[in-house]
Amino acid sequence: MDLRVETTSLSSAKDRAALVFAVVGKDVAPLVAQAGRGFVGAFETLKAREAFSGAAGQCLVLHDRPGARIETLVVAGVGAAPTPDALRTAAAEGARAARDAGATSLTVALPTGGNVAVSTEAVVEGIRLGLYVFEAYKSEKAKKSIRSATLLSPRAAAAAARRGLAEGTILSDAVLLVRDLGNEPGNTATPTYLAERARAIAAEHGLGVHVMERAEMTALGMGSLLGVAQGSSQPPKLIVLTYEPAGRRGRVDTVAVVGKGLTFDSGGISLKPGDKMEDMKFDMCGGAAVLGVMQAVARLKLPVRVVGLVPASENMPDAAAFKPGDILKAMNGTTIEIVNTDAEGRLILADALAYATSRLKPRPKAVVDMATLTGACVVALGSAAAGLVSNDDRLAARLSAAGDASGDPVWRLPLRERYRELIKSTYADVKNSAGREAGALTAAAFLEKFVNGVPWAHLDIAGTAWTESGKGIHSRGATGFGVRVVVRMLKDWGRG
Ligand code: BES
Ligand code: MN
Ligand code: ZN
Repeated sequence: MDLRVETTSLSSAKDRAALVFAVVGKDVAPLVAQAGRGFVGAFETLKAREAFSGAAGQCLVLHDRPGARIETLVVAGVGAAPTPDALRTAAAEGARAARDAGATSLTVALPTGGNVAVSTEAVVEGIRLGLYVFEAYKSEKAKKSIRSATLLSPRAAAAAARRGLAEGTILSDAVLLVRDLGNEPGNTATPTYLAERARAIAAEHGLGVHVMERAEMTALGMGSLLGVAQGSSQPPKLIVLTYEPAGRRGRVDTVAVVGKGLTFDSGGISLKPGDKMEDMKFDMCGGAAVLGVMQAVARLKLPVRVVGLVPASENMPDAAAFKPGDILKAMNGTTIEIVNTDAEGRLILADALAYATSRLKPRPKAVVDMATLTGACVVALGSAAAGLVSNDDRLAARLSAAGDASGDPVWRLPLRERYRELIKSTYADVKNSAGREAGALTAAAFLEKFVNGVPWAHLDIAGTAWTESGKGIHSRGATGFGVRVVVRMLKDWGRG
Protein backbone atom coordinates (compact mmCIF):
# COMPACT_ATOMS: atom_id res chain seq x y z
CA MET A 1 0.00 0.00 0.00
CA ASP A 2 1.25 3.42 -0.99
CA LEU A 3 1.26 6.09 1.75
CA ARG A 4 2.51 9.65 1.50
CA VAL A 5 2.37 12.92 3.41
CA GLU A 6 1.02 16.02 1.68
CA THR A 7 0.54 19.55 2.95
CA THR A 8 -2.64 20.45 1.05
CA SER A 9 -5.89 20.95 2.95
CA LEU A 10 -8.87 18.64 3.09
CA SER A 11 -10.83 21.04 0.88
CA SER A 12 -8.53 20.21 -2.03
CA ALA A 13 -8.11 16.46 -1.35
CA LYS A 14 -8.00 14.31 -4.48
CA ASP A 15 -9.22 11.00 -3.06
CA ARG A 16 -12.92 10.14 -3.17
CA ALA A 17 -12.91 9.09 0.49
CA ALA A 18 -11.64 10.88 3.58
CA LEU A 19 -11.01 9.99 7.19
CA VAL A 20 -10.98 12.49 10.04
CA PHE A 21 -10.58 11.94 13.77
CA ALA A 22 -12.92 13.30 16.42
CA VAL A 23 -11.95 13.91 20.05
CA VAL A 24 -14.72 14.11 22.68
CA GLY A 25 -15.44 17.75 23.49
CA LYS A 26 -13.54 19.13 20.49
CA ASP A 27 -15.49 20.46 17.52
CA VAL A 28 -14.83 18.42 14.41
CA ALA A 29 -17.51 20.26 12.37
CA PRO A 30 -15.01 22.57 10.60
CA LEU A 31 -13.15 19.52 9.24
CA VAL A 32 -16.43 17.93 8.19
CA ALA A 33 -17.30 21.12 6.31
CA GLN A 34 -13.88 21.14 4.63
CA ALA A 35 -14.53 17.63 3.38
CA GLY A 36 -17.71 18.89 1.69
CA ARG A 37 -20.78 21.00 2.44
CA GLY A 38 -22.88 17.92 1.67
CA PHE A 39 -21.75 16.23 4.90
CA VAL A 40 -22.63 19.06 7.25
CA GLY A 41 -26.37 18.52 7.53
CA ALA A 42 -26.22 14.83 8.34
CA PHE A 43 -23.32 15.31 10.74
CA GLU A 44 -25.08 18.12 12.67
CA THR A 45 -28.24 16.02 12.90
CA LEU A 46 -26.39 13.03 14.33
CA LYS A 47 -24.58 15.23 16.81
CA ALA A 48 -27.81 16.92 17.89
CA ARG A 49 -29.35 13.49 18.51
CA GLU A 50 -26.27 12.62 20.58
CA ALA A 51 -25.63 9.72 18.24
CA PHE A 52 -21.99 10.73 17.87
CA SER A 53 -19.67 12.25 20.47
CA GLY A 54 -16.22 11.13 19.29
CA ALA A 55 -16.07 8.34 21.88
CA ALA A 56 -13.55 5.59 21.22
CA GLY A 57 -15.06 2.91 19.01
CA GLN A 58 -17.56 5.25 17.32
CA CYS A 59 -17.17 5.42 13.58
CA LEU A 60 -19.51 7.45 11.37
CA VAL A 61 -19.72 6.84 7.65
CA LEU A 62 -21.34 9.74 5.77
CA HIS A 63 -22.18 9.70 2.09
CA ASP A 64 -22.45 12.60 -0.33
CA ARG A 65 -24.05 12.37 -3.78
CA PRO A 66 -22.13 10.39 -6.43
CA GLY A 67 -19.67 12.63 -8.21
CA ALA A 68 -19.08 14.89 -5.22
CA ARG A 69 -15.43 15.78 -4.68
CA ILE A 70 -15.38 13.53 -1.61
CA GLU A 71 -18.15 10.92 -1.74
CA THR A 72 -17.44 9.13 1.54
CA LEU A 73 -16.42 10.74 4.81
CA VAL A 74 -15.50 8.63 7.80
CA VAL A 75 -15.40 10.31 11.21
CA ALA A 76 -13.63 8.06 13.71
CA GLY A 77 -13.87 8.75 17.43
CA VAL A 78 -10.67 8.56 19.47
CA GLY A 79 -12.20 9.25 22.89
CA ALA A 80 -11.03 11.78 25.47
CA ALA A 81 -7.54 12.34 24.04
CA PRO A 82 -5.70 11.46 20.82
CA THR A 83 -3.22 9.10 22.50
CA PRO A 84 -1.19 6.82 20.20
CA ASP A 85 -3.27 3.80 21.26
CA ALA A 86 -6.56 5.60 20.60
CA LEU A 87 -5.35 6.90 17.23
CA ARG A 88 -4.04 3.50 16.14
CA THR A 89 -7.40 1.89 16.87
CA ALA A 90 -9.48 4.73 15.37
CA ALA A 91 -7.34 4.75 12.20
CA ALA A 92 -7.78 0.99 11.86
CA GLU A 93 -11.56 1.12 12.33
CA GLY A 94 -11.87 4.19 10.11
CA ALA A 95 -9.80 2.75 7.26
CA ARG A 96 -11.79 -0.48 7.37
CA ALA A 97 -15.07 1.44 7.30
CA ALA A 98 -13.87 3.39 4.25
CA ARG A 99 -12.80 0.19 2.52
CA ASP A 100 -16.13 -1.48 3.27
CA ALA A 101 -17.87 1.58 1.81
CA GLY A 102 -16.00 0.91 -1.43
CA ALA A 103 -13.09 3.37 -1.19
CA THR A 104 -9.93 2.44 -3.09
CA SER A 105 -7.89 5.45 -2.00
CA LEU A 106 -8.16 7.51 1.15
CA THR A 107 -7.21 10.97 2.35
CA VAL A 108 -6.53 11.14 6.08
CA ALA A 109 -6.47 14.39 8.03
CA LEU A 110 -3.66 13.84 10.54
CA PRO A 111 -4.38 15.05 14.06
CA THR A 112 -2.61 18.35 14.74
CA GLY A 113 -0.73 19.27 17.91
CA GLY A 114 1.10 16.99 20.30
CA ASN A 115 4.02 14.92 19.08
CA VAL A 116 3.32 14.75 15.35
CA ALA A 117 5.89 12.03 14.58
CA VAL A 118 4.42 9.79 17.28
CA SER A 119 0.79 10.37 16.32
CA THR A 120 1.52 9.91 12.60
CA GLU A 121 3.36 6.66 13.33
CA ALA A 122 0.29 5.45 15.25
CA VAL A 123 -2.08 6.44 12.42
CA VAL A 124 0.09 4.66 9.84
CA GLU A 125 0.23 1.52 11.96
CA GLY A 126 -3.52 1.67 12.46
CA ILE A 127 -4.27 1.97 8.74
CA ARG A 128 -1.87 -0.77 7.67
CA LEU A 129 -2.68 -3.22 10.47
CA GLY A 130 -6.42 -2.54 10.31
CA LEU A 131 -6.60 -3.23 6.58
CA TYR A 132 -4.61 -6.47 6.79
CA VAL A 133 -6.21 -9.62 5.39
CA PHE A 134 -4.62 -13.05 5.06
CA GLU A 135 -5.97 -14.55 1.86
CA ALA A 136 -3.01 -16.48 0.48
CA TYR A 137 -5.11 -19.65 0.39
CA LYS A 138 -8.43 -18.18 -0.76
CA SER A 139 -9.41 -18.94 -4.33
CA GLU A 140 -11.43 -15.75 -4.40
CA LYS A 141 -9.61 -12.67 -3.11
CA ALA A 142 -11.46 -9.80 -1.43
CA LYS A 143 -12.71 -7.32 -4.01
CA LYS A 144 -12.56 -4.27 -1.80
CA SER A 145 -9.15 -2.86 -0.99
CA ILE A 146 -7.55 0.50 -0.33
CA ARG A 147 -4.41 0.86 -2.41
CA SER A 148 -3.16 4.27 -1.37
CA ALA A 149 -3.55 6.83 1.38
CA THR A 150 -2.62 10.49 1.50
CA LEU A 151 -1.87 11.87 4.95
CA LEU A 152 -2.59 15.59 5.26
CA SER A 153 -0.35 17.61 7.52
CA PRO A 154 0.12 21.35 8.15
CA ARG A 155 3.28 22.51 6.39
CA ALA A 156 5.11 23.23 9.66
CA ALA A 157 4.60 19.64 10.86
CA ALA A 158 5.31 17.86 7.57
CA ALA A 159 8.90 16.85 8.40
CA ALA A 160 7.79 15.24 11.66
CA ALA A 161 4.86 13.58 9.91
CA ARG A 162 7.24 12.11 7.30
CA ARG A 163 9.45 10.72 10.08
CA GLY A 164 6.38 9.16 11.66
CA LEU A 165 5.35 7.70 8.31
CA ALA A 166 8.80 6.15 7.79
CA GLU A 167 8.88 4.58 11.27
CA GLY A 168 5.25 3.48 11.14
CA THR A 169 5.90 1.80 7.79
CA ILE A 170 8.91 -0.14 9.10
CA LEU A 171 7.07 -1.22 12.25
CA SER A 172 3.88 -2.22 10.46
CA ASP A 173 5.83 -4.09 7.76
CA ALA A 174 7.46 -6.13 10.52
CA VAL A 175 4.16 -6.76 12.32
CA LEU A 176 2.53 -7.85 9.05
CA LEU A 177 5.44 -10.19 8.33
CA VAL A 178 4.82 -11.84 11.71
CA ARG A 179 1.08 -12.10 11.01
CA ASP A 180 1.75 -13.70 7.62
CA LEU A 181 4.17 -16.21 9.14
CA GLY A 182 1.79 -16.99 12.00
CA ASN A 183 -1.26 -17.45 9.78
CA GLU A 184 0.62 -19.73 7.42
CA PRO A 185 -0.54 -23.31 8.06
CA GLY A 186 1.66 -25.84 9.80
CA ASN A 187 2.10 -27.91 6.67
CA THR A 188 3.92 -25.04 4.96
CA ALA A 189 5.39 -23.17 7.92
CA THR A 190 7.79 -25.91 9.01
CA PRO A 191 11.13 -25.26 10.76
CA THR A 192 12.78 -25.49 7.33
CA TYR A 193 10.40 -22.84 5.98
CA LEU A 194 11.14 -20.48 8.89
CA ALA A 195 14.85 -20.94 8.23
CA GLU A 196 14.38 -20.12 4.54
CA ARG A 197 12.38 -17.01 5.38
CA ALA A 198 15.07 -15.99 7.88
CA ARG A 199 17.75 -16.36 5.20
CA ALA A 200 15.73 -14.22 2.80
CA ILE A 201 15.23 -11.50 5.44
CA ALA A 202 18.95 -11.60 6.25
CA ALA A 203 19.92 -11.26 2.58
CA GLU A 204 17.51 -8.40 1.99
CA HIS A 205 18.44 -6.38 5.06
CA GLY A 206 22.12 -7.18 5.52
CA LEU A 207 21.88 -9.41 8.60
CA GLY A 208 24.29 -12.20 9.49
CA VAL A 209 22.60 -15.60 9.40
CA HIS A 210 23.49 -19.06 10.62
CA VAL A 211 21.05 -21.96 10.64
CA MET A 212 22.06 -24.76 12.94
CA GLU A 213 21.16 -28.27 11.81
CA ARG A 214 20.73 -31.40 13.92
CA ALA A 215 24.42 -32.35 13.65
CA GLU A 216 25.64 -29.09 15.13
CA MET A 217 23.00 -29.18 17.86
CA THR A 218 24.13 -32.69 18.72
CA ALA A 219 27.76 -31.58 18.89
CA LEU A 220 26.74 -28.73 21.23
CA GLY A 221 24.79 -31.13 23.45
CA MET A 222 21.37 -29.57 22.87
CA GLY A 223 19.53 -32.65 24.11
CA SER A 224 16.50 -30.68 25.25
CA LEU A 225 15.66 -29.15 21.86
CA LEU A 226 16.57 -32.40 20.08
CA GLY A 227 14.34 -34.37 22.45
CA VAL A 228 11.26 -32.37 21.38
CA ALA A 229 12.12 -32.72 17.68
CA GLN A 230 12.69 -36.46 17.91
CA GLY A 231 9.05 -37.37 17.17
CA SER A 232 8.77 -35.29 14.02
CA SER A 233 9.72 -36.02 10.44
CA GLN A 234 10.53 -32.32 10.06
CA PRO A 235 14.16 -31.58 10.98
CA PRO A 236 14.58 -28.97 13.74
CA LYS A 237 16.50 -25.75 13.12
CA LEU A 238 18.12 -23.20 15.37
CA ILE A 239 18.09 -19.94 13.44
CA VAL A 240 20.61 -17.26 14.47
CA LEU A 241 20.36 -13.79 12.92
CA THR A 242 22.81 -11.02 13.75
CA TYR A 243 22.35 -7.29 13.30
CA GLU A 244 25.59 -5.33 13.51
CA PRO A 245 25.19 -1.52 13.56
CA ALA A 246 27.45 -0.06 10.87
CA GLY A 247 30.78 1.36 12.01
CA ARG A 248 30.25 0.66 15.70
CA ARG A 249 31.81 -2.75 16.13
CA GLY A 250 32.73 -3.37 19.75
CA ARG A 251 31.34 -0.08 20.98
CA VAL A 252 27.70 -1.02 21.50
CA ASP A 253 25.78 -3.40 23.74
CA THR A 254 24.52 -6.74 22.44
CA VAL A 255 20.95 -7.76 23.20
CA ALA A 256 19.70 -11.26 22.36
CA VAL A 257 16.08 -11.90 21.42
CA VAL A 258 14.84 -15.50 21.50
CA GLY A 259 11.48 -16.77 20.20
CA LYS A 260 9.65 -20.08 20.47
CA GLY A 261 9.31 -21.44 16.95
CA LEU A 262 7.15 -24.49 17.58
CA THR A 263 5.57 -24.84 14.15
CA PHE A 264 2.89 -27.25 15.32
CA ASP A 265 2.20 -28.34 18.89
CA SER A 266 0.09 -31.49 19.04
CA GLY A 267 1.22 -32.03 22.63
CA GLY A 268 3.27 -35.04 21.54
CA ILE A 269 2.68 -38.30 23.44
CA SER A 270 0.83 -36.19 26.06
CA LEU A 271 -1.55 -35.44 23.20
CA LYS A 272 -3.74 -32.34 23.38
CA PRO A 273 -7.54 -32.63 23.15
CA GLY A 274 -8.85 -32.07 19.62
CA ASP A 275 -10.81 -28.91 20.32
CA LYS A 276 -8.90 -25.88 18.96
CA MET A 277 -5.84 -27.97 18.24
CA GLU A 278 -5.64 -26.21 14.86
CA ASP A 279 -4.66 -23.06 16.77
CA MET A 280 -1.38 -24.74 17.64
CA LYS A 281 -0.02 -23.70 14.25
CA PHE A 282 0.38 -20.35 16.01
CA ASP A 283 2.86 -21.86 18.47
CA MET A 284 5.70 -20.34 16.44
CA CYS A 285 4.51 -16.74 16.84
CA GLY A 286 7.34 -15.93 19.28
CA GLY A 287 9.87 -17.11 16.72
CA ALA A 288 8.11 -15.18 13.97
CA ALA A 289 8.19 -12.07 16.18
CA VAL A 290 11.97 -12.46 16.45
CA LEU A 291 12.22 -12.41 12.64
CA GLY A 292 10.03 -9.28 12.60
CA VAL A 293 12.18 -7.58 15.25
CA MET A 294 15.36 -8.35 13.29
CA GLN A 295 13.91 -6.94 10.07
CA ALA A 296 12.78 -3.78 11.86
CA VAL A 297 16.04 -3.11 13.74
CA ALA A 298 18.01 -3.49 10.50
CA ARG A 299 15.76 -1.05 8.64
CA LEU A 300 15.76 1.41 11.55
CA LYS A 301 19.58 1.14 11.76
CA LEU A 302 19.44 1.14 15.56
CA PRO A 303 22.72 1.75 17.42
CA VAL A 304 22.58 -1.54 19.33
CA ARG A 305 23.82 -5.00 18.33
CA VAL A 306 20.98 -7.52 18.23
CA VAL A 307 21.15 -11.29 17.92
CA GLY A 308 17.88 -13.07 17.16
CA LEU A 309 17.55 -16.77 17.91
CA VAL A 310 14.66 -19.03 16.88
CA PRO A 311 14.64 -22.63 18.04
CA ALA A 312 12.23 -24.26 15.58
CA SER A 313 10.63 -27.69 15.83
CA GLU A 314 7.38 -29.59 15.63
CA ASN A 315 5.99 -31.47 18.64
CA MET A 316 4.45 -34.73 17.41
CA PRO A 317 3.47 -38.16 18.78
CA ASP A 318 5.44 -40.93 17.10
CA ALA A 319 7.12 -44.22 17.89
CA ALA A 320 10.39 -42.28 18.08
CA ALA A 321 8.94 -39.40 20.10
CA PHE A 322 10.20 -38.45 23.56
CA LYS A 323 7.84 -39.53 26.29
CA PRO A 324 6.86 -38.92 29.90
CA GLY A 325 9.54 -40.24 32.24
CA ASP A 326 12.37 -39.63 29.78
CA ILE A 327 15.30 -37.57 31.01
CA LEU A 328 16.90 -35.06 28.64
CA LYS A 329 20.15 -33.18 29.10
CA ALA A 330 20.37 -29.56 27.93
CA MET A 331 23.57 -27.99 26.64
CA ASN A 332 24.35 -26.35 30.00
CA GLY A 333 24.38 -29.81 31.62
CA THR A 334 21.00 -29.47 33.37
CA THR A 335 19.07 -32.74 33.36
CA ILE A 336 15.31 -32.53 32.77
CA GLU A 337 12.69 -35.10 33.68
CA ILE A 338 9.85 -35.04 31.18
CA VAL A 339 6.56 -35.32 33.00
CA ASN A 340 4.46 -33.91 30.17
CA THR A 341 5.56 -33.77 26.53
CA ASP A 342 3.12 -30.90 26.01
CA ALA A 343 5.38 -28.64 28.09
CA GLU A 344 7.76 -28.53 25.12
CA GLY A 345 8.21 -24.80 24.55
CA ARG A 346 10.44 -24.40 27.61
CA LEU A 347 12.51 -27.34 26.37
CA ILE A 348 13.40 -25.82 23.01
CA LEU A 349 13.92 -22.42 24.64
CA ALA A 350 16.24 -23.98 27.25
CA ASP A 351 18.96 -24.79 24.73
CA ALA A 352 18.48 -21.54 22.79
CA LEU A 353 18.77 -19.49 26.02
CA ALA A 354 21.80 -21.49 27.17
CA TYR A 355 23.44 -20.96 23.78
CA ALA A 356 22.62 -17.23 23.74
CA THR A 357 24.01 -16.64 27.22
CA SER A 358 27.09 -18.88 27.09
CA ARG A 359 28.27 -19.05 23.47
CA LEU A 360 27.63 -15.64 21.93
CA LYS A 361 30.66 -13.34 21.79
CA PRO A 362 30.41 -10.77 23.22
CA ARG A 363 28.02 -11.99 25.85
CA PRO A 364 24.64 -10.22 25.62
CA LYS A 365 23.89 -7.50 28.16
CA ALA A 366 20.33 -8.78 28.18
CA VAL A 367 18.22 -11.54 26.71
CA VAL A 368 14.49 -11.30 26.04
CA ASP A 369 12.43 -14.31 25.05
CA MET A 370 8.95 -14.39 23.53
CA ALA A 371 6.88 -17.56 23.65
CA THR A 372 3.31 -18.83 23.42
CA LEU A 373 4.29 -20.75 26.50
CA THR A 374 1.34 -21.49 28.78
CA GLY A 375 -2.43 -21.74 28.82
CA ALA A 376 -2.08 -20.55 32.42
CA CYS A 377 -0.95 -17.14 31.20
CA VAL A 378 -4.08 -16.92 29.01
CA VAL A 379 -6.16 -17.63 32.11
CA ALA A 380 -4.29 -15.01 34.15
CA LEU A 381 -4.15 -12.09 31.71
CA GLY A 382 -6.29 -12.99 28.71
CA SER A 383 -5.49 -10.92 25.66
CA ALA A 384 -5.04 -7.65 27.56
CA ALA A 385 -1.29 -8.02 28.09
CA ALA A 386 1.54 -10.50 27.73
CA GLY A 387 3.01 -11.93 30.91
CA LEU A 388 6.44 -10.54 31.80
CA VAL A 389 8.77 -12.43 34.13
CA SER A 390 12.31 -11.23 34.74
CA ASN A 391 15.35 -11.69 36.96
CA ASP A 392 16.26 -8.02 36.48
CA ASP A 393 14.16 -5.05 37.63
CA ARG A 394 15.76 -2.58 35.21
CA LEU A 395 15.13 -4.78 32.18
CA ALA A 396 11.57 -5.42 33.37
CA ALA A 397 11.00 -1.67 33.74
CA ARG A 398 12.35 -1.04 30.24
CA LEU A 399 9.93 -3.59 28.80
CA SER A 400 6.95 -2.32 30.79
CA ALA A 401 7.58 1.23 29.55
CA ALA A 402 8.12 0.02 25.99
CA GLY A 403 4.91 -2.00 26.17
CA ASP A 404 2.85 1.01 27.24
CA ALA A 405 4.43 3.29 24.63
CA SER A 406 4.12 0.86 21.72
CA GLY A 407 0.65 -0.61 22.09
CA ASP A 408 2.00 -4.11 22.89
CA PRO A 409 1.30 -4.09 26.64
CA VAL A 410 3.03 -6.41 29.11
CA TRP A 411 2.28 -7.09 32.77
CA ARG A 412 4.90 -8.26 35.23
CA LEU A 413 4.36 -11.47 37.17
CA PRO A 414 6.59 -12.67 40.02
CA LEU A 415 9.54 -15.06 40.03
CA ARG A 416 9.70 -16.60 43.49
CA GLU A 417 11.51 -19.33 45.40
CA ARG A 418 8.25 -21.24 45.67
CA TYR A 419 8.10 -21.66 41.88
CA ARG A 420 11.72 -22.83 41.74
CA GLU A 421 10.89 -25.47 44.36
CA LEU A 422 7.88 -26.70 42.42
CA ILE A 423 9.97 -27.70 39.40
CA LYS A 424 12.47 -29.83 41.37
CA SER A 425 12.49 -33.44 40.17
CA THR A 426 12.96 -36.72 42.03
CA TYR A 427 15.07 -38.19 39.23
CA ALA A 428 16.72 -35.23 37.51
CA ASP A 429 17.71 -31.63 38.24
CA VAL A 430 14.35 -30.25 37.16
CA LYS A 431 11.08 -31.46 35.70
CA ASN A 432 9.42 -29.80 32.74
CA SER A 433 6.01 -29.31 34.33
CA ALA A 434 4.75 -28.69 37.84
CA GLY A 435 1.07 -29.05 37.01
CA ARG A 436 -1.57 -26.36 37.28
CA GLU A 437 -0.40 -24.32 40.25
CA ALA A 438 1.11 -21.05 38.98
CA GLY A 439 1.67 -22.63 35.57
CA ALA A 440 2.96 -19.49 33.86
CA LEU A 441 5.42 -18.89 36.68
CA THR A 442 6.81 -22.39 37.09
CA ALA A 443 7.41 -22.27 33.31
CA ALA A 444 9.38 -19.04 33.79
CA ALA A 445 11.27 -20.51 36.76
CA PHE A 446 12.25 -23.36 34.46
CA LEU A 447 13.60 -20.98 31.79
CA GLU A 448 15.61 -19.12 34.45
CA LYS A 449 17.79 -22.25 34.89
CA PHE A 450 19.25 -21.69 31.42
CA VAL A 451 20.09 -17.98 31.36
CA ASN A 452 23.46 -18.21 33.05
CA GLY A 453 22.82 -15.21 35.33
CA VAL A 454 22.42 -12.82 32.39
CA PRO A 455 19.67 -10.16 32.81
CA TRP A 456 16.72 -11.89 31.23
CA ALA A 457 13.06 -11.20 30.58
CA HIS A 458 10.44 -13.66 29.40
CA LEU A 459 7.28 -12.58 27.58
CA ASP A 460 4.52 -15.19 27.65
CA ILE A 461 2.50 -14.22 24.56
CA ALA A 462 0.09 -17.18 24.67
CA GLY A 463 -2.89 -14.84 25.16
CA THR A 464 -1.81 -12.09 22.78
CA ALA A 465 -0.21 -13.82 19.75
CA TRP A 466 -3.47 -14.51 17.96
CA THR A 467 -7.11 -13.51 18.29
CA GLU A 468 -10.59 -14.63 17.41
CA SER A 469 -11.81 -11.06 17.04
CA GLY A 470 -11.37 -8.74 14.10
CA LYS A 471 -11.62 -5.51 16.08
CA GLY A 472 -9.36 -2.46 16.10
CA ILE A 473 -5.95 -3.13 14.60
CA HIS A 474 -6.58 -6.87 14.61
CA SER A 475 -7.97 -9.24 12.08
CA ARG A 476 -8.74 -12.81 12.98
CA GLY A 477 -5.57 -14.85 13.41
CA ALA A 478 -2.01 -13.86 14.23
CA THR A 479 -1.61 -10.38 15.75
CA GLY A 480 2.13 -9.85 15.33
CA PHE A 481 2.42 -9.16 19.07
CA GLY A 482 5.95 -8.69 20.38
CA VAL A 483 7.56 -6.76 17.54
CA ARG A 484 6.47 -3.35 18.72
CA VAL A 485 7.34 -3.77 22.42
CA VAL A 486 10.77 -5.24 21.76
CA VAL A 487 11.69 -2.79 18.98
CA ARG A 488 10.56 0.07 21.23
CA MET A 489 12.80 -1.24 24.03
CA LEU A 490 15.75 -1.53 21.62
CA LYS A 491 15.11 2.00 20.28
CA ASP A 492 15.33 3.32 23.84
CA TRP A 493 18.24 1.07 24.82
CA GLY A 494 20.98 3.71 24.79
CA ARG A 495 18.84 6.07 26.85
CA GLY A 496 19.30 3.84 29.91
N1 BES B 1 1.75 -23.98 23.26
C1 BES B 1 1.22 -24.40 24.50
C2 BES B 1 0.62 -23.25 25.30
C3 BES B 1 -0.66 -22.67 24.78
C4 BES B 1 -1.85 -23.34 24.94
C5 BES B 1 -0.67 -21.43 24.20
C6 BES B 1 -3.04 -22.78 24.51
C7 BES B 1 -1.85 -20.86 23.78
C8 BES B 1 -3.04 -21.53 23.92
C9 BES B 1 2.30 -25.02 25.36
O1 BES B 1 3.25 -25.77 24.68
C10 BES B 1 1.60 -25.98 26.28
O2 BES B 1 1.05 -26.93 25.82
N2 BES B 1 1.65 -25.69 27.58
C11 BES B 1 1.02 -26.50 28.55
C12 BES B 1 1.99 -26.69 29.68
C13 BES B 1 1.54 -27.72 30.70
C14 BES B 1 1.55 -29.09 30.08
C15 BES B 1 2.48 -27.65 31.88
C16 BES B 1 -0.25 -25.78 29.03
O3 BES B 1 -0.22 -24.55 29.13
O4 BES B 1 -1.23 -26.45 29.24
MN1 MN C 1 2.62 -27.77 24.36
ZN1 ZN D 1 3.58 -25.24 22.75
